[in-house]
Amino acid sequence: MATKKFAGESPYKVAKKTHHASDWILTDFVNKVNLVSDKPGVKPPVVAAIFGIGRAGSIHLCNIIRNPRVLLKYIVDDRKERFDELRSFWNLSDVTFLTSKDSDRVFKDKAVSTVFIASPTFTHHEIVVKSIANNKDVFCEKPIAESIAETKKCYDTANAKGRVLFAAFNRRFDPSYRNLKMKVREGLVGHVQVLKVTARDSPLPTIDYLRTSGGVFHDCLVHDFDMACWVLGELPVRVQATATALIPEIKAIDDFDNIAFLMTFPSGAIAIGDNSRFSVYGYDQRLEVFGNKGMIKVENEKPSASTDYVIEQDGCKSHPIYYSFPSRYKDAYAREVEHFLDVVQYGVPQEVTGWQTLAISKIATAAEESARTNKTIEIDWSKDDIPNIYS
Ligand SMILES: NC(=O)c1ccc[n+]([C@@H]2O[C@H](COP(=O)([O-])OP(=O)(O)OC[C@H]3O[C@@H](n4cnc5c(N)ncnc54)[C@H](O)[C@@H]3O)[C@@H](O)[C@H]2O)c1
Repeated sequence: MATKKFAGESPYKVAKKTHHASDWILTDFVNKVNLVSDKPGVKPPVVAAIFGIGRAGSIHLCNIIRNPRVLLKYIVDDRKERFDELRSFWNLSDVTFLTSKDSDRVFKDKAVSTVFIASPTFTHHEIVVKSIANNKDVFCEKPIAESIAETKKCYDTANAKGRVLFAAFNRRFDPSYRNLKMKVREGLVGHVQVLKVTARDSPLPTIDYLRTSGGVFHDCLVHDFDMACWVLGELPVRVQATATALIPEIKAIDDFDNIAFLMTFPSGAIAIGDNSRFSVYGYDQRLEVFGNKGMIKVENEKPSASTDYVIEQDGCKSHPIYYSFPSRYKDAYAREVEHFLDVVQYGVPQEVTGWQTLAISKIATAAEESARTNKTIEIDWSKDDIPNIYS
């Protein structure tokens, strides 16, 4: 009775409110139900090929074959023994399967306008250059190439040919990180003082993978560096990193599994990161931004939010966090493909640009140098032709 006075008018008589802007899944659904698009007209699907269907490639394959904007014509991979099973599992009777030695067929096929690359990093440079030389737009897993010189060559080729080359920094397309970035840019936490990123991998990658990964700074920490610069909208002038190899097999290949870094930015902001190749409790991905007006953070996400914890005699048990990247970043992987298609089909401005990708390679190289020499590395951007604002 005491609260009846708060009942107000019947909800049927009150002006109808729509959902909150952060519920992007509902926005997407409503648009699809009402056949609404923010893009003009309907474009025919792009005809595509995908190189590499291992861990990352399988994620992209699943998104591509479900996407009406893509018509998949070729799958290129060197594990020929999987072809028959893949064809029947996914009902890919119209797709041609090739091994890399026959991949010229893809490059020469004028019907193919788009190439997705998720083969090992050391193969990217050649596939990117050949694809672009044959007038294809390219979606490429990070890193674009093994060295800054090769990465630059890829972008120079793309610019010369007027083709799109997109580096798949998937975390930028994660709804939670995007929301954090938007709030930071709206001034919610004021002038940023500290950005903290934690990225601990799960499961432990195979040594075969690590051997050809390009090293943890270029394979994993590039995501952390990109996210820090993307949120802050600036590039660091100083990088310090320390790294150890606690896992003997990783030490034996001269890589690291336990890394910490500090980056100092022109605004005075400091980015702090810790990164690990192996976290036993799941894929630990967190981001926090602290400023003079407050703090905002993205915590770990879980497969099931509604059965969050169980209370037992000895305490509470919470649902484990996502085990690995295919589940934690499921939405981000699908959304980055949509963005790439928007760029290719509708000329929407590309979010991950060539100079940003090159800048991230330069930061990764500096951080690795710092870890290997125990020195602080000052970064000079004056000759890099960098626009004033990062993003
Ligand atoms: N953005 C992310 O979250 C993310 C996650 C994992 C991997 N990656 C990147 O994706 C790439 C692949 O990594 P992965 O973990 O999927 O590796 P993987 O070893 O699981 O898969 C690579 C696949 O490529 C095939 N392959 C080898 N040479 C090839 C060639 N020349 N042409 C076509 N296919 C070829 C292999 O047979 C294998 O199936 C790497 O560049 C890695 O950095 C990105």
